Amino acid sequence: MDAAVKGSIGVFDSGVGGLTVLRALRGALPAEDFIYLGDTARLPYGTKSRDTVVRYASQCAGVLAARGIKALVIACNTASAVGVDLLAQRLAPLPVIGVLEPGAEAAVRASRSGRIAVIATEGTVQGGAYQRAIAARRPDAVVSARACPLFVALAEEGWTDGPIVEAVAHRYLDGLFAAGPDRPDTLVLGCTHFPVLKGVIARVLGPDVTIVDSALTTAEVTARVLARHGLARGEGIGTVTLLATDGPARFARVGSVFSGEPVFPDDVEVIDL
Ligand code: DGL
Repeated sequence: MDAAVKGSIGVFDSGVGGLTVLRALRGALPAEDFIYLGDTARLPYGTKSRDTVVRYASQCAGVLAARGIKALVIACNTASAVGVDLLAQRLAPLPVIGVLEPGAEAAVRASRSGRIAVIATEGTVQGGAYQRAIAARRPDAVVSARACPLFVALAEEGWTDGPIVEAVAHRYLDGLFAAGPDRPDTLVLGCTHFPVLKGVIARVLGPDVTIVDSALTTAEVTARVLARHGLARGEGIGTVTLLATDGPARFARVGSVFSGEPVFPDDVEVIDL
């Protein structure tokens, strides 16, 4: 196999939430090897300043680049919102893919009315990157956005269904989706943690709202980018290496919720950034 094709795909997130993206990537690209880094010691990124997130994201990317990756996927929405262009410049010609642009693209494709809601972390909402990415593709779109920090905490706790999650979902979403001509027809899950709450969110919103999960669209975009650069592996079964900046026991326990399959502490290598 050509040395360039042989390299792994680096994926990083502020923690284990990005395992939802890794799961989608492995589904779309089963022959590829992946190195996933969860910066669990410094989670959350979503409440931190732009400068801090840029610094943390640069360090994560640096560690993965030093391991000889052939492409980088920023699985964290907050880090994608502030770091994708910067890291693409620094790491060129290595392809760098964020989750935000694919999510915006999918939302525009899904929405008929152009009324699109985005839920994300505080940092992502305040930075306005989703709003800009959607407007760039559809200038007449009306985008409403809301930070849903408790969803992150609930997902981390493994509470992905039940009356408490449903009550929180109503509190966050009822206002955003109030009945009337301005009610959005599409919701973007603009945070790594939200796909595991998708069932409850869908129930609260009802069938007339399309939910866009940026993990799946990011995997599609990554497959296209690898093919375009002649970096895609044709066959075989790929491997996954897991790195974290904090304890493997919590990574494994919470990570199993996001991976949809068991993660074992012994499979997690702890590193310092
Ligand atoms: N990974 C973050 C994101 O997708 C959510 C968790 C955090 O705040 O770090 O925005």
